[in-house]
Amino acid sequence: MDPLFDRFPQLRNLLGKVPEAMIREELAPKVALYDEVVARIGGLIPTVRLCDVFPAELEAGKITLERFLGQWGNISIEELCKICLIVAWLKPKRVFEFGTYNGMTTLQMALNTPDDCHITTLDVPPSQAASLEIGGIDGVLAQKSGAFDLAIGHYFKESQVADKISQVWGDSTRFNFEPFAQQMDFVFVDAGHTYAYVKADTQNALKMIRSGGVIVWHDYHQVLHPDVMVCLGEFAADGMRIAHLRGTNLAVYHHVAG
Ligand SMILES: C[S@@+](CC[C@H](N)C(=O)[O-])C[C@H]1O[C@@H](n2cnc3c(N)ncnc32)[C@H](O)[C@@H]1O
Repeated sequence: MDPLFDRFPQLRNLLGKVPEAMIREELAPKVALYDEVVARIGGLIPTVRLCDVFPAELEAGKITLERFLGQWGNISIEELCKICLIVAWLKPKRVFEFGTYNGMTTLQMALNTPDDCHITTLDVPPSQAASLEIGGIDGVLAQKSGAFDLAIGHYFKESQVADKISQVWGDSTRFNFEPFAQQMDFVFVDAGHTYAYVKADTQNALKMIRSGGVIVWHDYHQVLHPDVMVCLGEFAADGMRIAHLRGTNLAVYHHVAG
C-alpha cells in the first residue's frame, strides 16, 4: 500500500514526467493541509449534482464541443461538459474568465452561449509569465508541455466565435475590475491557485456578478491545490452557498436574490 499514489491515483499520471522524489516532497505538506481542510469544511460545502443547484432541465441540455481534448493545464472533459451545460441553460450575455491559458475552455463557452454573449478573458502577458514563479511540479509540467511557448488564447483565435471574445491582460490582483462591476452573468475562476490569488479573484468575481449569475472555480477538492479549498471554505463559513460538483474539481455558486 502506497499512502500517496494509492490514495490519490491521479498523481500516477505525473510519474515519468516529474521526478517521484519531487512529487513526494511537494505533496507531503499539501496532503496534510488537504486532510485538515476536508475535515473542517466538509459540511460547509456539500458535494452535489448539477440538478441540486440548478433546475433539472439543465441536465437534459445539448452542448457543442470543438477541439476539446486540450493539453496539460486544461480542465477535464467532464468539467468542460458541466460548464457548457450551465452556460447553455443560463444563456449569459456577459462572461468573465480568470486564466485564459490556451483558450480551450473559452472556445467551448463561446460555442455554448447566445450569439450576442460577450466573453472577456484575462491572463498575464507572456512577457510577465515568469513573474508568476511557477515552480515545482507545475513548473516541470509547463516546461515539458511547452505550455507557455504557445500563444495565450490560440484555441479560439481562428474560430468562428472569435468575435465573441475579448482578451484582457494583467495580473488579476492588479487588474481594474471597476468597468465590469455587476456586469457578469457567469464568471469562471481558474488563474492563480495560491490562497492570496484565489481570495482576490473570488472577491473580484463577487463584485462583477449580477443577481442570478453563476461563479465556477476550478481545482477545488484537488490535493495539488488545497489553498482553493481553504479559501472557499472561508467564504462558505461567512455564509456564501458554495457547492462542489460531484465527479469534478469544480465548485459553484449561484447568486440568487434573497
Ligand atoms: C490552469 S490555466 C487556465 C486553464 C483554462 N481555464 C482552461 O481550462 O482552458 C491558468 C492560467 O492562469 C494564468 N494566471 C495565473 N496566475 C494569474 C494571475 N495572477 N493573473 C492572471 N492570469 C493568471 C496562467 O498564465 C495560465 O494561463
